[in-house]
Amino acid sequence: MQKSIFTSESLGAVHVAIIMDGNGRWATKRGLPRVEGHRAGVATVRRIVEHAPRVGIKRLTLYAFSSDNWRRPRKEVEALFWLLRAYLRLESQRLRQRGVCLKVIGRRDRLPRVVVREIEKVETLTAQGDSLHLRVAIDYSSRDAITRALAKLTSGCSLSEPLSIELLRHRISDELTGQSGEVDLLIRTGGEKRLSDFLLWESAYAELLFTDRMWPDFDASDLEAAVEEFRRRSRRFGALPVPTTASLVATRERAQ
Ligand code: FPP
Repeated sequence: MQKSIFTSESLGAVHVAIIMDGNGRWATKRGLPRVEGHRAGVATVRRIVEHAPRVGIKRLTLYAFSSDNWRRPRKEVEALFWLLRAYLRLESQRLRQRGVCLKVIGRRDRLPRVVVREIEKVETLTAQGDSLHLRVAIDYSSRDAITRALAKLTSGCSLSEPLSIELLRHRISDELTGQSGEVDLLIRTGGEKRLSDFLLWESAYAELLFTDRMWPDFDASDLEAAVEEFRRRSRRFGALPVPTTASLVATRERAQ
């Protein structure tokens, strides 16, 4: 296998989030049922999870099932949960061996019991993993997550002594980004250019990258190209320009 030009040092602990869109269209274009697109999408998930640490990605969040996806036909929803459960069951040992720590974000109270049990098993099995922190968003809605964080933080607060806005903002931020931090790069495949209620708070300063590539076709070279593009961007966080990651690496290499 070709050695990657990226190193984790050159990227730091970059957090990449992906909206995996285009499975249905990929299948329809081939005259296949939509579920075949989702099946091919699972194969892409395997490839990308395997490749991510090689390009310096330490944290990866994948949007697998949004809270709005319940509106899809029952057969498609069932097929998606069947695939998710199979992924968790069949991949758990491989994930552990590769040092991947998998966590699921989103609501669990509406998921089939068998899926929740599989999630709990894989979370326990991979808890010590440190090469990649993988989060899979299932029955996830960012607005819902923000609202729940706010409700949790303010329950028990009296109206006469409210938390200061500044403190509340910090606490919400801790609640939402405590485990995986802010998103650095948000990728959406499938040609659409929207966020679809995904990690809205966490992506406040994320670099956005939209690609026409359908998720089943997205491969290691697309991930490398996305990371390369991210390295070229100049992130300012509202302040004056700071050097790009790529220019920082180049400066360090010249100095060596
Ligand atoms: C969007 O494509 C994709 C989904 C709603 C499901 C994503 C799920 C997977 C890739 C498989 C399971 C995931 C894991 C982590 C094992 P779409 O159906 O909206 O495509 P379309 O826009 O072309 O119709």
